[in-house]
Amino acid sequence: MSADPRRAAAAAAGWPYPFWIAHRGAGRLGPENTLAAFAIGHACGYRMFECDARLSADGEVFLLHDDRLERTTNGTGDAVSQPWSALAGLDAGAWHGEAFVGERLPRLAEVIDFCAARGCSLNVEIKPAPGDAARNGRRVAEVLAAARHPLPVLLSSFAPAALAAAAETAPGLTRGLLLETFSAGWMDEARRLGCVAVIAACAAWTTATAAQAGAAGLRRLAYTVNDDAEAERLRALGLDGLITDRVDHFRP
Ligand code: G3P
Ligand code: MG
Repeated sequence: MSADPRRAAAAAAGWPYPFWIAHRGAGRLGPENTLAAFAIGHACGYRMFECDARLSADGEVFLLHDDRLERTTNGTGDAVSQPWSALAGLDAGAWHGEAFVGERLPRLAEVIDFCAARGCSLNVEIKPAPGDAARNGRRVAEVLAAARHPLPVLLSSFAPAALAAAAETAPGLTRGLLLETFSAGWMDEARRLGCVAVIAACAAWTTATAAQAGAAGLRRLAYTVNDDAEAERLRALGLDGLITDRVDHFRP
């Protein structure tokens, strides 16, 4: 059982996740979505991590935010057009600083092992390349369902088709719908997809939207919260979790 009384109470209520979640492993302190970033987030006391999961051409699930490789690796082009054998050799750390030269793109399976070994939870955002949502959702769900060491996972996506495919593949995985805004029909979509949570941009959370989501029985989370006043505002609205880049500032 968790030593943290808030976490223990949340787990008892069917929501085992901590309030603070490290965005892309460690926000901006390390090269996003790498194991080095996860290690930094963990050293800062974080016990839950958000990450972005996508597919290689041959169906390997690995971590990368962008469709293209240029910003965070020494590769070029669309990640989805390359086999894992090519992606696995890329440097995903040098862009961030000399200390991270040689850091690799991690497979989702490695990240699961990292978290499971440390008793941490994982928020896997399914990040499909255009037109690839169903394949991506299916493969992410397969990897999570096959994990050697299961752990508390929250599966999320902006792409309903990815969540639908994941739900079909592994119905038992906890799902959350990502939203930039609360546009018409969002609640029906969340219900249709069997989501227990809605994860919205922090500016989208108001007294009204927090009340609507709460009344629908949904857990409420916000991304990406990097400001003290905003964190306080969202906490006062009763949100269940905040995703942040500032792992050296907000103490979980
Ligand atoms: O999952 C929340 C957040 O990560 C969504 O935005 O672009 O940082 O993946 P993005
Ligand atoms: Mg993300």
